[in-house]
Amino acid sequence: MYIDKAADYVGQVQTINGWVYNSRSSGKVAFVLVRDGSGIMQCVVAKSDVEESTFEAVRHLTQESSISITGVIHAEDRAPGGHEMHVEKVEVHQAAVDYPITPKEHGVDFLMSNRHLWLRSKRQWAIMRIRATIVKSIRDYLDDNGFLLMDAPILSANVCEGSSTLFSTDYFGVPAYLSQSGQLYNEATAMAFGKVYCFGPAFRAEKSKTRRHLTEFWMVEPEMAYCDWSQNCDVQEQFVTYIVQQVLEKRREELAIIEREIAPLEKIATPFPRISYDEAVKLLQKVGSPIQWGDDFGGDEETLISNQFERPVFVHSYPKSFKAFYMKTNPANPQTVLCADLLAPEGYGEIIGGGQREDDYELLLERVHAEGLAEADYQWYLDLRKYGSVPHSGFGLGVERTVAWICKLPHVRETVPFPRLLEKIYP
Ligand code: 4AD
Ligand code: MG
Repeated sequence: MYIDKAADYVGQVQTINGWVYNSRSSGKVAFVLVRDGSGIMQCVVAKSDVEESTFEAVRHLTQESSISITGVIHAEDRAPGGHEMHVEKVEVHQAAVDYPITPKEHGVDFLMSNRHLWLRSKRQWAIMRIRATIVKSIRDYLDDNGFLLMDAPILSANVCEGSSTLFSTDYFGVPAYLSQSGQLYNEATAMAFGKVYCFGPAFRAEKSKTRRHLTEFWMVEPEMAYCDWSQNCDVQEQFVTYIVQQVLEKRREELAIIEREIAPLEKIATPFPRISYDEAVKLLQKVGSPIQWGDDFGGDEETLISNQFERPVFVHSYPKSFKAFYMKTNPANPQTVLCADLLAPEGYGEIIGGGQREDDYELLLERVHAEGLAEADYQWYLDLRKYGSVPHSGFGLGVERTVAWICKLPHVRETVPFPRLLEKIYP
């Protein structure tokens, strides 16, 4: 039996194959918390009910020993999960000695170095299950709304998001890069299939140690032909609202374990406010920021802006100077581009970057040159503007930042099983 199915087995003798999460005993009764991956169950052994040897075996169980434990399943409101086992038999597969992560408090560095074991703890269990639900909601939403999955390559000759964060590798004698984004390829598949998405890992050699940056992260990137930047925002607000609703519906227990306040998540509903970069700069200046028009926003500015809203907020029409080469020039103000970032509330900041793509051949070629990119490498990308060019838009949502926000975590390092951070690739 798996613990999460206990309700189906009340009154029956069942066996759980798992690990000892915690145990305590008095002279007459012992309690063992057993986890099996699907949940945690309290297993109770009364000395008077079992053979002496069974009681002694249970009394000496150590944390994280692997065991099979057998007994009758009872409904018990006071037990975690609402059920407990009255134990009849225990079999120890391997007795763990001195498990390093004890129920006392440990520092983050220690826990990160023991990430391979830390994942067994209840809090990590809850976060990873919420992550899995977020990923499933992403796929469900797109699959059910006419987007076709188009896997983009990881090895690429093209720079997408700027050359300063490239991981390069030797590709049989020529340089290749680990993908920063599947977007450029998605623009090609959108012209073939209309509405598409890719979903995979992205790599950025981020030299900064922040609570928002990983060097390897997961990104979902929808791309739509015949779509302008504002229709693109319409899709994003429905998409993000759906994801939050799914977590609220399916992961109540996990949200409770990590003590995530539900009320702010319940406020996530369409439409999301939309402000221009100009308005965002004014808003920042009003709350005391020294920011000037033309400056890029860092984490602090994003936090300040997102704190002003209860829903995620779009900031659109940024200056061209610090945005990617592929963004469409805003005809109403050519110093700016038709892009929009989505900032999550409660101070979380950017979870989505997106916008309309430059669809004019000459303007795009100008941007390729201005960025110092090799025209020959982008010939295929420029072709898309030669053969049936159309307005098109898309966006990229970072999974780890979304998990951090929905779980209200202080740092992205707990949002993925094995985070890759500056100076950290072990374990
Ligand atoms: O804003 P970004 O750089 O946009 C793109 O890559 C576009 N090509 C996406 C598109 O339009 N198809 O990244 C998109 C999102 C960010 O909003 C953030 O959530 C996440 O990817 N992200 C990171 N997450 C963790 N660590 C990093 N170093 C990240 N860089 C970006
Ligand atoms: Mg961005």
